[in-house]
Amino acid sequence: MGKIGKSIIYYQGQPVGTFAANDPNMDALNYDQCFIRDFVPSALAFLMKGQSEIVRNFLKITLALQSHEPQMDAFKPGPGLMPASFKIESKDGKEYLTADFGEHAIARVPPVDSCLWWIILLRAYTKATGDLSLSHQTEFQEGIKLILDMCLAHRFAMYPTMLVPDGAFTIDRRMGVYEHPLEIQVLFYAALRAARELLLPNNDNCTCLEDVNQRLGTLTYHLREYYWIDLKRLNEIYRFEGDEFGAEVANRFNIYAESIPGWLMEWLPGKGGYLAGNLGPGRMDFRFFALGNLMAIITSLASEQESQMMINLIEQRWRDLIGEMPMKICFPALEGMEWKIITGCDRKNLPWSYHNGGNWPMLLWFLVGAALKTNRIEVVYRAIDIAETHISEDKWAEYYDGKNGRLIGRQARKYQTWTIASYLMAKELMSNPDRLELLTFERE
Ligand code: GLC
Repeated sequence: MGKIGKSIIYYQGQPVGTFAANDPNMDALNYDQCFIRDFVPSALAFLMKGQSEIVRNFLKITLALQSHEPQMDAFKPGPGLMPASFKIESKDGKEYLTADFGEHAIARVPPVDSCLWWIILLRAYTKATGDLSLSHQTEFQEGIKLILDMCLAHRFAMYPTMLVPDGAFTIDRRMGVYEHPLEIQVLFYAALRAARELLLPNNDNCTCLEDVNQRLGTLTYHLREYYWIDLKRLNEIYRFEGDEFGAEVANRFNIYAESIPGWLMEWLPGKGGYLAGNLGPGRMDFRFFALGNLMAIITSLASEQESQMMINLIEQRWRDLIGEMPMKICFPALEGMEWKIITGCDRKNLPWSYHNGGNWPMLLWFLVGAALKTNRIEVVYRAIDIAETHISEDKWAEYYDGKNGRLIGRQARKYQTWTIASYLMAKELMSNPDRLELLTFERE
């Protein structure tokens, strides 16, 4: 944990989080802030090492930063949202916390994943320490409910999945990941499962708990049934009829067979499968997104058989998905006209770079966790071996570029905290696979 030591942020003398990166050779921008999603692997590594104080402090101060704004001012974050990041500022010898809900971030993206990770982390803290008193505090119960109010609100969709704008999670730039992106849906599922354990079964919470249960049923069904892609399913989609009218139709979302990308027909192995990147009216995003798929395995959203098929896919398409550094954030990259239209000509998200098909070592722990969950130990060793050949020599780079992730990302920061934390956590999980219980749920 010494490696993370230098990244720790203190507030009023207490450790409360970690900087996103500590690269002395690059402009800090907002990388000197503590991002909620980036802190997760550090938090889990701390919990696994029995150092829970920093996690407890983090959960408390982020709760205090949760938005309670009434919806009147549409330029302000809606109630329930948690910030993307926060920092400590000093004025007249006093320290203040300032939160960024995306107002300062590039393109003003709302971090929908933050509040979901917060609930998931609160449950991990509770499991690791056995300390129920934190989540049972009134403010914590209210905080959880405020998040659920926002996430469960019935708005413009008739799907159980959550409708979000583009770039509302790890991929926080325009990448065609608006509507119902997988990562958000899987985190939503995990947050609902966690909330069900954390909310006290009293009169105040009873309606909320009913809503959570109801939504979990429909959400799980929807994701398993309609996001799943394997050869059998691809064949069905390939032979779908379009424009079917009525309630009981096979092609519910009116996906046209012509929208199946050419690469997928050759690429999908017979014994492999994965969850699609997105599903909406007339649109199935066939790209493979690592975080959502791996978390679906870890949290038991995917069935045992599906989980095995997902790891088969990773094994059989190792060069594409793992390459020289585990692992690719999404596959394949958007290129040419597609890149222009979908990313809006984003120069940071050039094909095979950054979010657009770059390799991110912070994904190592998700991969190791998913491989341990499915008992595929050879994948664990292989992934850690590859990372170890150069992760520390490359000074814990943020991401890698190229089809196989051979080059350190052009604008990647060094000493990226979640790269370090993810590696530490992967090693910890390898020695103590039982610790994965902080993130897993019983299969239902
Ligand atoms: C970038 C990433 C985001 C991450 C942040 C801090 O904005 O896209 O996922 O949280 O950097 O590392």
